[in-house]
Amino acid sequence: MSLKLPNGNMPAIGYGCWKLGKEKAAEVVERVLSLGYRHIDSACDYGNEVEVGDGIKQAINKGICKREDIFVTSKLWNTYHAPEHVLQACQKTLSDLKLDYLDMYLIHFPISLKFVPFEKRYPPEWFHEPEAEDKKMEFASVPVIDTWRAMEKLVEMGLVKNIGVSNWNCQGLRDLLAAAKIKPSCLQIELHPYLQQRKLVQYAQSQGLVVTGFSPMGNGVSYWREDFSCLKEETIQKIAAAKNVSPAQVILRWGVQRGWSVIPKSENFDRIAQNLDIFGFQLDSQEVGEIDKLERNLRFNDPGVFCPAAFNTECPIWE
Ligand code: A2P
Repeated sequence: MSLKLPNGNMPAIGYGCWKLGKEKAAEVVERVLSLGYRHIDSACDYGNEVEVGDGIKQAINKGICKREDIFVTSKLWNTYHAPEHVLQACQKTLSDLKLDYLDMYLIHFPISLKFVPFEKRYPPEWFHEPEAEDKKMEFASVPVIDTWRAMEKLVEMGLVKNIGVSNWNCQGLRDLLAAAKIKPSCLQIELHPYLQQRKLVQYAQSQGLVVTGFSPMGNGVSYWREDFSCLKEETIQKIAAAKNVSPAQVILRWGVQRGWSVIPKSENFDRIAQNLDIFGFQLDSQEVGEIDKLERNLRFNDPGVFCPAAFNTECPIWE
């Protein structure tokens, strides 16, 4: 099952590389591809693109898949929004991933941070000077349309097949859609039963964007919020038992049936295989409705919360 884009199709299930340990990443990504995943979600900021690229290369060299059979997403980091850095950032990601094009390139956050030279620190992460005593994030004034024009150029150059945005809201999308020559074709946001962002999903889809949900299990293990997990939710467990599948499979299936792609992460091969195996059963409308009712507007990846807590800087984006 896949979602149609201007240039190709995005498989509805992808493997999310956020929080995938560097030391394991090559082995895991090769295995993920050998298990049948055809969609890999990566980003400069995940700090593991070299190893993710090693895994992709090993899989291609061993004949597990061909380049044209896989869909690879990456993301432009916050420090590279100035148009003169967009191409360099994309080329660095391509070289780390050992690819000559990306299927999707997203602006990672609607947050522009001051440039950090590639040779100084990569990935640059959030602090401008991590060694400073009073370390903070430092913002850059880059109008989003300037970044977008540089993203469009990547498409024209053939380095990227599709472009989009991540962690964007309706207003941001409206603005971008009004100015874009090449319209954003994907919105990636946090989506799980506790955070369904229905109006945003509906708006994005009505404008022809494909929606991808990260952290699909709502398995929010974080240092800025209490841990929570939709996997433990009674409703989910009840449906899983009735269908003889796991809670994770129920949640992933729900996301796909709601019309977005899901990119679960796991380092455990049984769970990785299980997460792909969600097309042998269906949720009926009552079950979908029961899961819909779990909405709690509970977001765990929120710069407005984690930036002051972890990076000593206010940075609201959803308010
Ligand atoms: P692990 O790597 O130990 O499998 P999300 O994609 O919502 O961010 O959730 C990712 C978290 O969920 C990871 O910590 C991962 O842990 C765990 N996870 C992934 N797949 C499953 C599954 N099928 N069952 C239970 N936990 C899972």
